Parts: sequence; structure tokens; C-alpha cells
Amino acid sequence: MCGIVGYIGDLEALPVLMKGLKGLEYRGYDSAGVAFPDEGHLRVIKKRGRLSVLENMLREQGLLDEAARSGRQAIHLGIGHTRWATHGAPSDENSHPHVSRGGRICVVHNGIIENYIELRKHLSDKGYTFVSQTDTEVLAHLIEYHYMTNCNFDLFCAVQTALLEVEGSYALAVLCMDFPDTMVAARKDSPLVVGLGKGENLIASDIPALLPHTREVLILEDSEIAVLTKDSVRVYTVHGDPIVREPIHIDWDTEAAEKGGYEHFMMKEMFEEPKAMRATLTPRIRGGRIVLENFPFTEERIRNASGIHIVACGTAYHAGYVGKYIIEKLCRIPVTVDVASEFRYRDPLVDSNSLVIIISQSGETLDTIAAMREAKKRGAGILAIVNVVGSSIAREADYVLYTSAGPEIAVASTKAYNTQLACMYLLSIEMAKLIGKITDDEYHRYQSELLLIPDKIQTILERQSEIQRFASQHFNAESIFFIGRGLDYALSMEASLKLKEISYIHSEAYPGGELKHGTIALIEKGTLVVCPLTQDNLMDKMISNIQEVRARGAIVLGIATEKQKTALQVCDQVFCIPDIDPIFAPAIAVTPCQLFAYYMAVNKGCDVDKPRNLAKSVTVE
Ligand code: AGP
Repeated sequence: MCGIVGYIGDLEALPVLMKGLKGLEYRGYDSAGVAFPDEGHLRVIKKRGRLSVLENMLREQGLLDEAARSGRQAIHLGIGHTRWATHGAPSDENSHPHVSRGGRICVVHNGIIENYIELRKHLSDKGYTFVSQTDTEVLAHLIEYHYMTNCNFDLFCAVQTALLEVEGSYALAVLCMDFPDTMVAARKDSPLVVGLGKGENLIASDIPALLPHTREVLILEDSEIAVLTKDSVRVYTVHGDPIVREPIHIDWDTEAAEKGGYEHFMMKEMFEEPKAMRATLTPRIRGGRIVLENFPFTEERIRNASGIHIVACGTAYHAGYVGKYIIEKLCRIPVTVDVASEFRYRDPLVDSNSLVIIISQSGETLDTIAAMREAKKRGAGILAIVNVVGSSIAREADYVLYTSAGPEIAVASTKAYNTQLACMYLLSIEMAKLIGKITDDEYHRYQSELLLIPDKIQTILERQSEIQRFASQHFNAESIFFIGRGLDYALSMEASLKLKEISYIHSEAYPGGELKHGTIALIEKGTLVVCPLTQDNLMDKMISNIQEVRARGAIVLGIATEKQKTALQVCDQVFCIPDIDPIFAPAIAVTPCQLFAYYMAVNKGCDVDKPRNLAKSVTVE
């Protein structure tokens, strides 16, 4: 998705903007630009392509380097943008910032103005013409229109009035030629955070972009407008009512948002899995019990639940799929699991007795937000498993179980998935205990098993070269199947997505027993099949499935627990993981699958952290 940064303060703004935009590159983009007041006018420099193209343009114009800047009026205010194309192809004209007709207003925007065609016609009727195909340009003209007519050159009024006419989502930053000491920002359904500094204030699409300047962050809520000068930040509702809100202190270290010596963020984040799992589990397992502070779902509420619904997208959905198996096994309560984009439109059977579990790393995935709101509208209790503090989903849920994975920068989610599983386990075990479905012995044994997971992941990571070697033999594969049964099938879904999204190799996850109902027709000599083999009770069946595909020429890689020695006899290769209670196996068996996807992508020369067409947080439908 698009990235936005804005700066106003004592420093030169452009180097700050460029550093902030670099911190947002992982969100995916195809063009970039900046805008700033320059000798009484607004200057816009923008270009299709990578940030380096924009940086070279700024450097060539003497706008970046200290020496080149000497003698020129300082630039203390600016906004920047990386664009992930929605309306209009990637091009110079469609890149942001966009300028109004009279040049007085310029904006950068992340989101979708759903009624932009209607607004565009309204403005065309007033003589406005357009140089781009974007919805954002309409916003620039609309704000200027109100600024020059019914708001009598009041910038806040112009932004407020324009936004009241807008339908859709926005994270927005606005500059006005007449106010070289002011930046206006606003948000609705797209993330935007405000950084409170000393002699400076900033805005950004996410928190890491602010960290080099401040740890004091103000979370803008939906339909709020912020007015920033270098010494003040005032927040209002879009209706003009002032808001007083305490900032939150971010204790991530800046290093956490950097690569830390790894070649890719994805590898760094896989190696952070043990630490992330400890940070998620340990504070919640103490004194022989699971401690979920202020957990609102009482024994009665769980017993009387008309159903539990898990809703998420992508990797988070796959974590929810594992969650379905775990909750049903431990709590004996029916669980549905849906991708959010389906759930929100299928008139779901959700009522005031439903419990809905929303899972999201970013807490800003638009489909997941919309699904949550749909469930809330029907009276359901909303429990969210989220990684980003203060994100939209975290703020709107009835209860938040934060994953403590730290910032996840790589588009391909890794440590977030492991910690989402950790939260699913904590929740399932605690709910099962609350309604008496597990014994005290089981309750304590499960806690002990959970606390052993980080070290087991560590031992897997230390054997990464075995995975690297296997990937080096198979990275030219054109299609790869992941087959499993039970929790191994749920895990296969995530393993398959990881491979697809960063190596661009086609892959499918299939229930082992289902292959013979059609898909086995695709298995031929040399087809690569990966089989997680962690579910003891299904091992014999999986052995049969492996023999079925091998009989047709498949090459099979097994991912098996130490004790499953039989796997060694039927697979071409086996990667052994530490023994573990089968219900917890996905939390560690996923790591070799993540490593496999990583090395396949590296061998293919793919952009591991920023795969094509993808964004870290999908804040559009
Ligand atoms: C996973 O590797 C992908 N980046 C993607 O599927 C992601 O999991 C999905 O977009 C959901 O994101 P969220 O967890 O931030 O809601």
C-alpha cells in the first residue's frame, strides 16, 4: 500500500522525508514524490520508479546535500509519498503529491475516494480540468475549491468541508501555499500516526518511520483531522470538535526496525521468532496458570456461545485455520474460519452470542476491519489478535491479545504467524480450562509445552543450511505441492503461500486424502511434493499418500518430528524437527517451510522483502 510521511520542524525537511519514505518501502510502491513550500509557492518533485530515482532528482537540484543547500532558504516543511497504484497506471502524472488547479493546495493520500467520479464531475462542471487518472487529484482540487469559496481561505475549514463530501478511505497530508508553517493531516480507514518531537512534529503511515525522531506517538482515529506546526499538534473530529488524546510511548528500539546485519528483513524476522515467541508467551504463563489480563469472555459466555468465528486474510487466515482445529479439539465448540473478504459479504450467521476472533498483523487490513465491523454490527463479541499497538483493529475490538513480535517489515509474514499461533494456543487452552474441558494436568502440561517452543524453533533455525541445500536443488521447479492432513494441512496452506508470494513459483496446499479426487492427475515425474508429517494419528494415512505420489514420479520432502522415523523410509528427503505435542507442531514446523520459501526466492533472485505486486498491509478492498 502507499506510504506517507510529513515533517515540520527545525531540520531540513527533505532528508527527513527521504529517510521516512525508505522506511516505508516495504509497503510496496511504483512511484514516489515530495512537496514543500519554496519561495512562496508549493514545489512538487515526483517520479515513477524506485525511491533512488527521486533521490537523484533531489540531489541534482541541490536539495539534499548540506553543501548544495548552503545559501538557499531552508526547507522546514514537506510531505512525501510512495504510491502503490490503484486508480491509474504507474506514471509520473499519477504519482503523488497532487496539486490543485491554482497551485495553492497539494496532497498525498493513501486509500480510495469511492465517490471520486461524482466529485470529478462536480468539479468539471465548475471548470476544473484533470492531469491524472487518480482519485487523489480530485481531492486536491476539491480542497482548493472550498478554500477559495465558502471557507474564505481557512485551510482547516477547506479540508474539513472536502472530507465531509468524501466517501471512502484516506490517510491524507495537505500543504497550502499560504501557510508555509502548517501541515494538515487526516485519516479514515487508512493508517496514519503523528510523531510528537521537540521543535518538530511528523506524520507517517506507520510507527517505524517516526522512530528516528520520536517515540511519542499520537494515534489518529478515523474521521479525525490533525493540524501540525513545529511546536503544536491539534486534533479535531471531521466535524470540528477538538480532541484531547494522550500520546503512547513506543519502546521498540530503532534497531528493531532495521535489518540488523541480515541480508533481508525476512531472514532477520525468522531469526527473531524465538524472541518473539518468548515475548508473547512468557508474560502470560505464570504461577502455573495462563494470565490473560481483563479477559472478558466468561465461562458462561463461552458455554453459551452460538459459535466461534475466526476471520482474517492471508497468513493471518492460515493461523486462524490452525486455531479452528485447536479450539474445536480442546473446547469442543464449533468454529468457522473465513477469509475476511468472504465473511463480510456472505450475511454470516453471527449474533450477540457469537464470539468473533479477528487476526491481523498490521491491524489495518481493510477487508478484516470491515469484517470486524460487520460482526460488531450484529452484536458479536470481538477478540482481536494483533501485532501493531494502537492499530484500527486493536482500537475497535472488545479485547486485544497482542502478539509481541515487534515490527514486521518484510511483506512475507513469518514471526507474526508463529506468534499468532501462540495467542491461539493461549486462548484455546484458557477457554478450555474455563469451561472444564481439560484437566488440571493437561492445563499444566500444555503450558510447559508452550514454553519449550522458542528453543525448538531456535534449533531449527540453526540448521538452516539443510534447507538451503534442498532449495538449491529445486528452485527451478515450476509447481510445488504441499500435502498434509489435519493440522499438517492447515500448516501446508501457510507453507504454500510463503513460497508463492516471494519465489513466484506456483504452489498448492492440498489435504493428503483429497489428492486422489483429481489433483493427483498433475503429479508427474519430478514434481516436488512437500509433506509436513507431525500428526502421529494420521501418519499411516500420509505414508499411503506419499507412496501414491511417489509411484507417479514425485520427489517428496518430509518435515517430520524426530520420532517419526518411518518417514525416512518413504520420503526422498526428510527434515527432522524436535518432537512436540502434535497440537503445537504447526508453531515450529512452519519455520522450515518459511526457510524453504526464503531460499527458493533467493536462489531465483527475487526481491524477498518487497515481492512484486504485493504490499505489507492491504488497506484497500
Ligand atoms: C502474508 O505473508 C502476506 N503478507 C499477507 O497474506 C498478509 O498475511 C495479509 O495481507 C494479512 O495481513 P494482516 O495480518 O496485516 O491483516
